[in-house]
Amino acid sequence: MVRAIGVLQSVSPQRTSPARWQNQTDTRSHLRDQQLRKYVDVNAKIVLLPGDGIGPEVIDEARKVLERIAQKFDHTFNFESHPIGGNAIDDFGDPLPEATLEACRGADGILLGAVGGPKWDDPTAKTRPEVGLLKIRKELGLFANLRPITTYDFLLDSSPLRREIVEGTDIFFVRELTGGIYFGDSKLEENADGSETASSTMVYSTHEIERVVRVAAKAAQGRSGHLTSVDKANVLEASRLWRKVAERVVREEFPDLKYDVVLVDAMAMHLISRPSTFDVVVTGNMFGDILTDEGSMLPGSMGLLPSASLGESGPGLYEPIHGSAPDIAGTGVANPLATILASAMLLRHSLNLEEEAKAIEAAVDAVLEAGHRTKDLASQGEEPLGTKAMAQKVLEALAD
Ligand code: IPM
Ligand code: MG
Repeated sequence: MVRAIGVLQSVSPQRTSPARWQNQTDTRSHLRDQQLRKYVDVNAKIVLLPGDGIGPEVIDEARKVLERIAQKFDHTFNFESHPIGGNAIDDFGDPLPEATLEACRGADGILLGAVGGPKWDDPTAKTRPEVGLLKIRKELGLFANLRPITTYDFLLDSSPLRREIVEGTDIFFVRELTGGIYFGDSKLEENADGSETASSTMVYSTHEIERVVRVAAKAAQGRSGHLTSVDKANVLEASRLWRKVAERVVREEFPDLKYDVVLVDAMAMHLISRPSTFDVVVTGNMFGDILTDEGSMLPGSMGLLPSASLGESGPGLYEPIHGSAPDIAGTGVANPLATILASAMLLRHSLNLEEEAKAIEAAVDAVLEAGHRTKDLASQGEEPLGTKAMAQKVLEALAD
């Protein structure tokens, strides 16, 4: 079994700039790993968590791509599928059954489809699909959520923003994922007059901030050397600590970086007025949740964006940025490319298979360049491919 390499060794290649990626990984241990791998076939356990809605459809296709990679590069990937989300609530009364969590703990990498759907949306329900997602992040210590926002030239005209604003945008978001307001104390109390009061607390400690800022700073070193930290230090105490710790970590450990700090409300504005001026952006859990959804619209479709959630050690969790899209579930039109690209991230960050990851990314690029489009990407008059047909194109490109 292959243990996940620490995120600190392998973060954020920039797909558009291989040279910068080389810079970043040019460490002795990495090179040694690269050399060793020429002789060692990897035997890895990959846990698949298809989830709800279009999740199972896109996971099926990503699995085929991983199987093709195993065959092509002489690796053995053992797959196990486990329930999570709404279907797990239906079958086991629990959005993250213990058996799923145990399987994930023993995995080398985890590939997740999506969770949720209208069927489980009742706000008074005992539990919700999202609880499963939050719990797996917390239980596996997946504190760093990497969300690259890559733009493709051919899609720029589908962006809600003008081409000249989005052009050249390539942002690497690092969102803190296991702390902040998502995991601080929360309560709901009934007042004497029958009304209610609810509170959620944003909590961050030095260590939580240090480790995620280090991940982001390493990523920035491997890219253009520009790191932006986003907070709300003019109002929130938790943000003031964030700012102080982030500044210290960068000053003491990464003095070579160009570093700036932006308030979250201003960042929401800059993201749509000058997105191409950012490179690596690090922020807390809730701000990252909101800004990455905003950022995901920049390229013109969410259907191409993967993400990775990594911890200090142990398996990483990889998933498409898009949700379970219940409106198109079962119709065979979902775009499988984000999940296929997430599987490339799994190979890179959890199995240290850089060449294999690049092979998948190159295959996806080639398929898109050849003009193949799923429904979400097709312009008027273009005949879209379905989920399976699109994945088939990627498999064919991998055979070349
Ligand atoms: C995300 C999602 C989750 C989050 C939800 C589904 C709990 O929006 O991964 O961004 O808020 O973290
Ligand atoms: Mg979100």
